[in-house]
Amino acid sequence: MERVLIKLSFWVVLVLVQTSRFNSCLENERIGLLDLKSFTQSEKILVSWVDDKMSNCCDWERVQCNATTRRVIKLFLHDTMLFSQYYSPNGLLTLNLSLFHPFEELESLDLSYNYFAGWHDNKAYDGSRCLKQLKILDLSYNHFNATLLPYLSYLTSLTTLNLKWNNIGEGLKSAKQGLANLTNLKVLNLGENQINNSLSSLGM
Ligand SMILES: *[C@@H]1O[C@H](CO)[C@@H](O)[C@H](O)[C@H]1NC(C)=O
Ligand SMILES: *[C@@H]1O[C@H](CO)[C@@H](O)[C@H](O)[C@H]1NC(C)=O
Ligand SMILES: *[C@@H]1O[C@H](CO)[C@@H](O)[C@H](O)[C@H]1NC(C)=O
Ligand SMILES: *[C@@H]1O[C@H](CO)[C@@H](O)[C@H](O)[C@H]1NC(C)=O
Ligand SMILES: *[C@@H]1O[C@H](CO)[C@@H](O)[C@H](O)[C@H]1NC(C)=O
Repeated sequence: MERVLIKLSFWVVLVLVQTSRFNSCLENERIGLLDLKSFTQSEKILVSWVDDKMSNCCDWERVQCNATTRRVIKLFLHDTMLFSQYYSPNGLLTLNLSLFHPFEELESLDLSYNYFAGWHDNKAYDGSRCLKQLKILDLSYNHFNATLLPYLSYLTSLTTLNLKWNNIGEGLKSAKQGLANLTNLKVLNLGENQINNSLSSLGM
């Protein structure tokens, strides 16, 4: 009888462990999210992102997973003052898009209102397999200038790119080639960027 009970409780535990595994997010994506969090300086944001293996990162604030695959498909990181470690002397942040490469099925990324200005140059990195599902990228309300655009050229699934309220300016003329590979792009917001010429005069 005792042996039966032990056996039974073994199976119950096994089933519980399997079920929680099944529901939880992928380990490398959990680590990727914690990496992102490590750049934040305020303890008041991303509070639910805790380093605890029992915590399902698909339930974390600002994260959305596909219910079937449990992979991260959306990240809403607007106004998080993320990456404050990268504060440059003039008080602006630089963004390293490689930090999002663990999220292979990411479809939507919102990084608006984050004081980003610079762009980490990861030329050595092979971007051909990264962020291949990314359709929506919101970089509005940052301080990016036009030199950013060529670094977006590997995001070939993009359908929507929001660059409203940045410093794109007249540099768009020489950098617009960086958008040429984005053949799926349907919505491009360049509002409030001190672009004096009409887009048609820029050949767009
Ligand atoms: C979740 O992923 C499955 C398998 O890739 C896909 O068929 C389904 O459409 C996805 N669901 C959502 C809501 O994206
Ligand atoms: C950007 O992030 C990647 C992935 O975490 C890292 O390997 C790389 O060193 C970072 N680059 C810079 C310039 O910080
Ligand atoms: C554009 O941004 C880059 C990266 O922050 C910076 O190095 C460069 O000086 C800026 N260019 C102009 C014209 O402001
Ligand atoms: C963009 O397209 C050009 C030619 O159309 C190609 O040579 C280049 O490798 C592409 N760049 C990326 C990052 O996909
Ligand atoms: C765009 O127009 C504004 C206002 O007329 C002017 O101050 C600015 O220098 C112009 N920018 C460029 C790059 O020509």
